[in-house]
Amino acid sequence: MTTEQKNWNKSSWRNFNALQQPLWPSKEAEKKVRDKLSLLPPLVFAGEIRSLKKELADAVDGKAFLLQGGDCSENFSNVTALNIREKLKVLLQMSVVLTYAGEIPIIKLGRIAGQFAKPRSSDIETRDGVELPSYRGDMVNGAEFTKAARTPNPKNMLQGYNMAASTLNLLRAFTHGGFGSLQRVQAWNQEFVAASPMGRSYNRLAKQISQAIQFMETIGISSELPQIEQTQFYTSHEALLLGYEESLTRLDHITEKWYDCSAHLVWIGERTRQIDGAHVEFLRGVHNPLGLKLGPKHDIDEVKRLINVLNPDNEKGRLTIITRLGKDNVEKVLPPLLREIKREGMHVVWSCDPMHANTYTASSGHKTRNFNDIVSEITCFFETHWAEGTIPGGIHLEMTGNDVTECTGGAHNIVDEELSQNYETTCDPRLNSEQSLEVAFQLADMIRS
Ligand code: PEP
Ligand code: CO
Repeated sequence: MTTEQKNWNKSSWRNFNALQQPLWPSKEAEKKVRDKLSLLPPLVFAGEIRSLKKELADAVDGKAFLLQGGDCSENFSNVTALNIREKLKVLLQMSVVLTYAGEIPIIKLGRIAGQFAKPRSSDIETRDGVELPSYRGDMVNGAEFTKAARTPNPKNMLQGYNMAASTLNLLRAFTHGGFGSLQRVQAWNQEFVAASPMGRSYNRLAKQISQAIQFMETIGISSELPQIEQTQFYTSHEALLLGYEESLTRLDHITEKWYDCSAHLVWIGERTRQIDGAHVEFLRGVHNPLGLKLGPKHDIDEVKRLINVLNPDNEKGRLTIITRLGKDNVEKVLPPLLREIKREGMHVVWSCDPMHANTYTASSGHKTRNFNDIVSEITCFFETHWAEGTIPGGIHLEMTGNDVTECTGGAHNIVDEELSQNYETTCDPRLNSEQSLEVAFQLADMIRS
């Protein structure tokens, strides 16, 4: 037994305070659903989880880079072949650009196939004097502002499981069936560059990538090689609903270790990372790679204690710290944190979430984020790491493959008044496909210069 399993079992979190859990109207009904879930097959397999951890261990050392992205909150109604395909397509496109620029493998990790539960700042939402439970994600209740929709229904967890399973099924088919072949992905990138108003500045890089692929073909490297034709894609979500996560936690019979088989990587959000809380208790015992979100107000000593609890063996690849500090806070807040964790010799992947601390309300009343602020936080993150001699190991984005208007700016310069045109998110605003690709091209430029 390793140190992290001491006094742990998959239900031990129940002895701790669990924040952000729904008030299920019937405890018996919720238990029934969990009993069912615990008999259903795992969504992902321990061997795959271990492969991801190994790749993340490389990211600790700067030998790989993590690209994590997807919806803030997935919706059941958006689980369609088209939506899944478009999201995957953009992530693959971004990864080709970043692989070329960084000259290292990109670990592709979707916020997908299970990102159905959301933490909220208040349990109750009030509209025109009417009070209803807040929307907590499709796995809990409906977004519509009616009593029926907002009442938490545990059967949504079963539906969430089924939605995650069908999403994964398609992702596996796409990534192993030639959809994501290098040539195809690069052809999409060329289409993007041709259509972008910023195309001229992205064209050089796109051309160089094409030349590299052409060179490989010329010397006879077959496009049918699995490395060219197939790709590895992993899934992740915030491990928020502990009852659901517990039901999908299984003992791996090869290693005799526990894995949360709802996703390859699960993360702890900024709001549920209390050291004596139920989320930390649950996650310390599963052997998945973990993410830990950190906002600008973290306490460094507490972060160190959290790292010790979550990664007591200082295993590379086990822990990814996802900082979401806000573009104006990075310069001040990040250096002391990096210095201290480096001084302690703690192995973590440092990833940058440039979304969650750059949210504001547009003049149109929409919750939004500006493209330049997002790029600015990423830039500051990289420059700070380079200055401190630490390794910027990844980025974490809220994005979609669709043509939404949720974040302002970008090459088509979406302005406040245009946000209502195609504002679809039920939670936080996402970069659209074009804005996501632009982030990749601008980051690539920065890495190479
Ligand atoms: C999120 O990733 O959607 C989220 C709620 O993030 P955070 O925990 O960083 O606020
Ligand atoms: Co979000």
